Amino acid sequence: ITIDNKKNLYIEKKNIFMKNLEDYKIKNLDDFNNQRKMAANEPELFWSGIASTFQWNKKWKNTLKYDWSIPNTEWFVEGKLNITENCLDRYAKSNPDKKAIIWEANDPNEDFKVFTYKELLDEVCKFSNGLKRIGVKKGDRICIYMPMIPELTIAVLACARVGAIHSVVFAGFSSVALAARINDSSCSVIITSDGGFRGNKITPLKKICDQALKNCPTIKNCIVYKRTSEKIDWFKNRDIWWDDLISGSPDKCEPTIMNSEDTLFILYTSGSTGKPKGMVHTCGGYMVYTAYTFMNVFQYSQNDVYWCTADIGWITGHSYMVYGPLLVGATSVHFEGVPSYPDWGRFWQVCQKHKVNQFYTAPTAIRSLAKQPIDFVNKYNLSSLSVLGSVGEPINLEAWEWYYRNIGKGKLPIVDTWWQTETGGIMISSIPKVTKQKPTYATTPLPGVNAEIVDNNGNLIEESSAEGILLINFPWPSIARTIYGDHDRYKNVYFSAYKNKYFPGDGALRDENGMYRITGRVDDVVIVSGHNLGTAPIENSINEHPKVVESAVVGYPHEIKGNALMAFIILYDKTDDNESIKKEINDLISNSIGPIAKPEKVIIVSGLPKTRSGKIMRRILRKFANNDMENLGDTSTLLNPEIVNEIENTLKSLN
Ligand code: WTA
Repeated sequence: ITIDNKKNLYIEKKNIFMKNLEDYKIKNLDDFNNQRKMAANEPELFWSGIASTFQWNKKWKNTLKYDWSIPNTEWFVEGKLNITENCLDRYAKSNPDKKAIIWEANDPNEDFKVFTYKELLDEVCKFSNGLKRIGVKKGDRICIYMPMIPELTIAVLACARVGAIHSVVFAGFSSVALAARINDSSCSVIITSDGGFRGNKITPLKKICDQALKNCPTIKNCIVYKRTSEKIDWFKNRDIWWDDLISGSPDKCEPTIMNSEDTLFILYTSGSTGKPKGMVHTCGGYMVYTAYTFMNVFQYSQNDVYWCTADIGWITGHSYMVYGPLLVGATSVHFEGVPSYPDWGRFWQVCQKHKVNQFYTAPTAIRSLAKQPIDFVNKYNLSSLSVLGSVGEPINLEAWEWYYRNIGKGKLPIVDTWWQTETGGIMISSIPKVTKQKPTYATTPLPGVNAEIVDNNGNLIEESSAEGILLINFPWPSIARTIYGDHDRYKNVYFSAYKNKYFPGDGALRDENGMYRITGRVDDVVIVSGHNLGTAPIENSINEHPKVVESAVVGYPHEIKGNALMAFIILYDKTDDNESIKKEINDLISNSIGPIAKPEKVIIVSGLPKTRSGKIMRRILRKFANNDMENLGDTSTLLNPEIVNEIENTLKSLN
């Protein structure tokens, strides 16, 4: 956007301090253009107008202070608030019986549960008081390792209510991964359940916790919700049943007043190297941005039922299942199960049952669903649907078309939303029925998102048509402020490659109309079934195997998972029983990271292509994994060019 007009069109048209968030709903192209222009020309005015529609205990002094050379970003500086007052109390007062959450169990025969805004507030307050009873204070880090049950949401909001920092760890992570995350932020309490239902499986969450907690000296208490009733071990000085903690607890709890820039939560995401990054999100800006984007990207109207199929363990669950929808007073479906249980019609059965209007899922789910007989879709009445969404990875054309034709019946808008754990909220997306959509394109940056593309030399591409690396050149309210305990790494990963610009790590294409298509990661992160996996930690766990000399893991396209992993490994002794080594490697990875990180293929090789400085040439391995052996490029400068032929022959013999 060109900053051509300092005079603010939007203010001229409408009063900037409009009373309700709803007044900022983008209803037509004029609204969109006006908001975009205003956000570009007068970002502080724009965002402070939106922020004013929330409940603050004290108004902020400066709307924005930032210096990306440090880097430092602060929004609504010195404002005071508690996000849960905005999520819950406001609506519990104005509309107490409105449904906040409709919870659908894994087993379709188990009754669904409804929490109204009033009921949810009461439950959050009870649990908040429970947390206070065991000494939880503002700023304490609380780990949450739970299945998709309403208590997960209650636990998250209770932390926010008492000013504790929640760190939700996805319940598919192993005990080693869990312990690493607990220790990185020195959590004092963990909240879990005895087990979790997922399809026809039970995950023994408490058992995994017990294993992790052997190595977590900072944990004082483990709160356990009873969900599956399986047998568990009990450590009586540490473990507390959820029900005991809240028994007799009052259902009123004054919210702890937070500074706008106090930490709301930490959420770990994989980096291309080393340990996971604990992304830090703060209260004020995150609140304003998730609410604004939720309302606009999904075009949520007050009587709609919205369903996001993500897990609260990921950022999508934080921003668009918990905070965004509740801040807008929405009714959301939360689902405990998986798309394939009891059969592949489950998503559509739930859509019909709860008359879902907005449905938000991931390309990997769409691809699995598209593989099934179409009868699983056609059995159900999907006429309530009005907006379809996609998130987590680039959506390929086949999946887009299947979604559009079969779920959208050829007429519903699809929002392909590009964003990240780090961005806190949706950055690039179409606005249903307002801006144009284009298959496989996330399309247009939202108001306040200043995206640009640079070429491989870092030069800004001014022309509309462009292909290169995506950058964001101005702060938006929900950008992660740091990596917990490691600001240097934050600076290095996101703000060093391009001066004073945020580098998300994705490549992008822009068409002649300025629409963006995200082409994928440009670093060593591979997105497998929507989960970000750094290849380095996977290699580390493979290398732990006593028979492994060295390994390299790369991604390649996979029909259902989007990407899959191929591991190349060198063994000390080639005469070993390869099959059992492969199995042992998979077990190592499951234990250290989780089953999601297991490679699809393990290839045993006698060497890895290396540069003369000893670096593994992943580029070549990627070509192999992609079956693109014709275009290996110049391999003559390798330290060991002969290895290329050997790997090629090995792969051919496997096909
Ligand atoms: C990828 C998920 C293309 C991208 C919200 C990003 C996407 C990473 C899209 C962040 C999309 C997410 N189109 N790619 N619509 N959405 N990505 O942190 O590579 O789990 O950097 O956040 O997913 O994944 P994360």
